[in-house]
Amino acid sequence: MNCLKLLLLLFFNALVILVAAQKIDDIRILPQPFRIILNPGVVTLSHSVNVYVDPKTGADANYIWIVLQDIGFRPAFVKFEKQADIIFKRSTDTIPGGTEAYQLTIDQNVSKGRIIGIANGGSGIIYALQTLRQLSNLEENYIKFQACVIYDKPFFAWRAFMLDESRHFQGKEVVKKLIDEMARIKLNTFHWHLVDDQGWRIEIKKYPLLTKVSSKSDYSHLSKGISPKQWDSLYHHRPGFFYTQNEIREIVAYANARGVRIIPEIEIPGHASASIYAYPWLGASSKKAGQPVSGDLYLVTDPRVKKFLKDVLDEIIALFPAKIIHIGGDEANYAHWQQSEEINAFMKSENIPTYSDLQVWTNNKMSRYISSKGCRMIGWNEITGDNIRGETHIQASQKEKLAPGTIVQFWDGAVNLINKAIDRGYDVVNSNRFFTYLDYSYETTSFEKAYSFNPIPEGIAAKDQNKILGLGAQMWGELTPTEQRLYYQIFPRLAAYAEVGWVNPAKKSSYPEFLKRFMRIESIWRKKGYIVNSSQ
Ligand code: ACM
Repeated sequence: MNCLKLLLLLFFNALVILVAAQKIDDIRILPQPFRIILNPGVVTLSHSVNVYVDPKTGADANYIWIVLQDIGFRPAFVKFEKQADIIFKRSTDTIPGGTEAYQLTIDQNVSKGRIIGIANGGSGIIYALQTLRQLSNLEENYIKFQACVIYDKPFFAWRAFMLDESRHFQGKEVVKKLIDEMARIKLNTFHWHLVDDQGWRIEIKKYPLLTKVSSKSDYSHLSKGISPKQWDSLYHHRPGFFYTQNEIREIVAYANARGVRIIPEIEIPGHASASIYAYPWLGASSKKAGQPVSGDLYLVTDPRVKKFLKDVLDEIIALFPAKIIHIGGDEANYAHWQQSEEINAFMKSENIPTYSDLQVWTNNKMSRYISSKGCRMIGWNEITGDNIRGETHIQASQKEKLAPGTIVQFWDGAVNLINKAIDRGYDVVNSNRFFTYLDYSYETTSFEKAYSFNPIPEGIAAKDQNKILGLGAQMWGELTPTEQRLYYQIFPRLAAYAEVGWVNPAKKSSYPEFLKRFMRIESIWRKKGYIVNSSQ
């Protein structure tokens, strides 16, 4: 190659990069797509458009209609691709990247339709739709899009938001709004913390007192030191705060249409006071005392209690098609087992040396039951049997081994517990509380700190990185009695977690670049009242 040719080539390459950089900057998508190819020109559509949705995609046409309306279109569904301006269809060749991958083409010159979203399945189609929404420029008579081809797929398969409704019940309209915002930014897992000491929030038909009694209290009562004795006298007139099974089905379907699966959490063996309040025979200390004892643990060795847990799981499994069940497992106060003759006699006869072994033994019973129903179990990282906070009263012999296939959700303790869980063969969801707890103040976990989170901790060998399934962002509800306070804690940080879950940590953009891409979503969240002041 002569010098002139080389110079010309360098010049044109530089020009292309310059133009591309400027345009990519302009189109601002969050989370950042895997690959964007900008093409010259702008595609202009009128507000009335014909839309074709291939039924084979599995995507919910009603939700597609809702989002297209939100963009400003007046969509009419047509039966044939060739009649359509906007097409969503299943790819004929599988797009690399699994069910969540998609390709979005916006092109003036394509013969059938000018916007085509293709994917291997329903989630990918929903993501193509969300990206299209972020690319739209609404004008009085037209909606304009930069011509481009976007090929996109998430880096992590598990991108979760958790809502605790035991401490404060928010109700289905709030839950639906949150699911809408998860879908907007391509979060795919709604982890629903439905049970804790402060209240039981889901109808279980076999145990009606769980809703008649256990659903009446919340954090505003229990944080005031109200004893179980006072509970009834003060609260039995209150309406219960819980979801009927029909409401659960409605919310599961709502989430499913938006590409969001729901994973319910039923806490075992601790954080179980609400259910034990209604049925004192469930609790190790409560059974002995003949009345509820707050903070109690399930008397897991009692056949009646085992039956209760299985009955509850049966109804839960039937309601949640995602087939992953969270059994909690955190912060069990072993003092309640320590003083139980039944527990100690059982441990002696079964040669279970420590209470943390008994917890692992319990987990494994649950795990076997859950897998016999075709589901997988997940729990907070205490379920490994490690003494995660190094508490002096806890002995952890690790004689009992957590069942293979269980997912460990890391939240507390030294980060190398993740490495340890992976070495033992478990998949891990990283919910390191110092980065992902939405109940923490913005002083502790700023938006920037949330964005800095890397779900893959140091020291994980490249071959093991796929054992980190992804991340969870947790909204614990003690301090969020109102909807506004709830939104204040969640937004804008949820956007940071969405990006962290979608983008390869090695390719993540700088925080200022992320903020530029966040601007559009920020203005939507302000309009919706989720972000109300600039100091957040
Ligand atoms: C937890 O925050 N107790 C899981």
